[in-house]
Amino acid sequence: MSEQTIALVTGANKGIGYEIAAGLGALGWTVGVGARDEGRREAAVEKLRAGGADAFGVPLDVTDDRSVAAAAQLIELRAGRLDVLVNNAGVTGGRPQEPSTVDLAALRTAVETNVIGVIRVTNAMLPLLRRSASPRIVNMSSGVGSLTRQTTPGAEVGPISVAYAPSKSMLNAVTVQYAKELQGTDILINAACPGYTATDLNNFSGHRTPDQGAAIAVRLATLPADGPSGGFFEDAGVVPW
Ligand SMILES: NC(=O)c1ccc[n+]([C@@H]2O[C@H](COP(=O)([O-])OP(=O)(O)OC[C@H]3O[C@@H](n4cnc5c(N)ncnc54)[C@H](OP(=O)(O)O)[C@@H]3O)[C@@H](O)[C@H]2O)c1
Repeated sequence: MSEQTIALVTGANKGIGYEIAAGLGALGWTVGVGARDEGRREAAVEKLRAGGADAFGVPLDVTDDRSVAAAAQLIELRAGRLDVLVNNAGVTGGRPQEPSTVDLAALRTAVETNVIGVIRVTNAMLPLLRRSASPRIVNMSSGVGSLTRQTTPGAEVGPISVAYAPSKSMLNAVTVQYAKELQGTDILINAACPGYTATDLNNFSGHRTPDQGAAIAVRLATLPADGPSGGFFEDAGVVPW
């Protein structure tokens, strides 16, 4: 088995995921660039390599059982284990998302990708993560999934959203349940909020750069053994549930 730290970032072909891959690559880690589209994936891998990162492509659609199983197999063949999994891939499900008029397909897409996709990928990778000396899982959530912020007047939570925001609330809840099951192991799992970041997801309306959005995930990916698990964090600290 390689001594090299190996990470997988889902949805790493662009936006925050790409910058997380770049950030982990800059640590000297080997980074699997999980992406569903071959062209976008290979372009990202090339760009990361040109920047000095040891990156390789991992075909990965988080909504597809077979794709996820094949991704786990690819990493097993390449490294025999996985040290860090960043579940970053996410979608809004489309807008508008007023509860009374929402297209149920949008709801299903958001939950299938942002919640079930994370569980699917995590469970496929857990056997590989259990072989690592210090395994870390980071779930890219969002402050809009914070029910405290959603009910705090003036908090930055974007438009009314019955698909995207609740999918991130559920992802937070799922993160807590994993942390409980994994208590007593070396695996630390946390949810991250990147802040309002300019990417395709919001038509580049965010005020943070993807590089800034990636920082909290890199921090949670590199937690020491006595770091937290089952928490929800942004750059400034703990995000309220
Ligand atoms: N931007 C923000 O302000 C913000 C705030 C809070 C949280 N977040 C979260 O941060 C994460 C990254 O978002 P982003 O802003 O960087 O958005 P983005 O630029 O739209 O990137 C999303 C990434 O997820 C991938 N993806 C979507 N569905 C997928 C699937 N089924 N299988 C594999 N990959 C899939 C996309 O791949 P394709 O290129 O193939 O579509 C893309 O690589 C998301 O979880 C998002 O919810 C973002």
